[in-house]
Amino acid sequence: MTSRSAVIERARPAAELPLDHDGVDRASMGKLVRAFYAKVRNDERLGPIFAREITGDWEPHLEKMTDFWCSVILKSGDYHGRPVPAHLKLGDVTEADFDIWLALFRETASELFAPEIAAVFVERAERIAASLKLAMFFRLDPAAGRR
Ligand code: HEM
Repeated sequence: MTSRSAVIERARPAAELPLDHDGVDRASMGKLVRAFYAKVRNDERLGPIFAREITGDWEPHLEKMTDFWCSVILKSGDYHGRPVPAHLKLGDVTEADFDIWLALFRETASELFAPEIAAVFVERAERIAASLKLAMFFRLDPAAGRR
């Protein structure tokens, strides 16, 4: 039998090299994160979910997400969190919400980076989103959710 963790393991990206490119650094990553979450907070569907979860200062979340993207893109090792449990507890998030998240992310990345750089960000985001969706929504038994 295929376990959920085995499925997630297979979806995990292979080791990648850091992206070495002028202008792709912590400062530009911070701008991306801030511009992206400004859109998220204005979105009629995602805004209320984040507003409910992040009730105080947004700065720690923005710094954590900057660490996350520096780790993903620059392999900086700055991020030490665990994304899967953070999303598993968001009971009302649907797969369609991930399409909204990715559309806003795609839009923001292409506003801030050259197309070939934006494409790297988007491709990583899409793969991580796919892993998160597997963890959140994949069920071996299609009837399990209805019991
Ligand atoms: C509809 C889609 C999504 C929703 C509604 C969502 C929502 C959230 C919320 C509410 C938090 C907790 C914030 C906090 O308390 O600090 C969070 C954390 C996080 N999210 Fe998402 N998220 C989504 C998709 C994604 C995607 C696609 C990625 C990556 C590409 C991602 C990466 C992260 C990371 C790294 C954290 C920090 C986890 C930790 O270490 O605590 N999220 N997200």
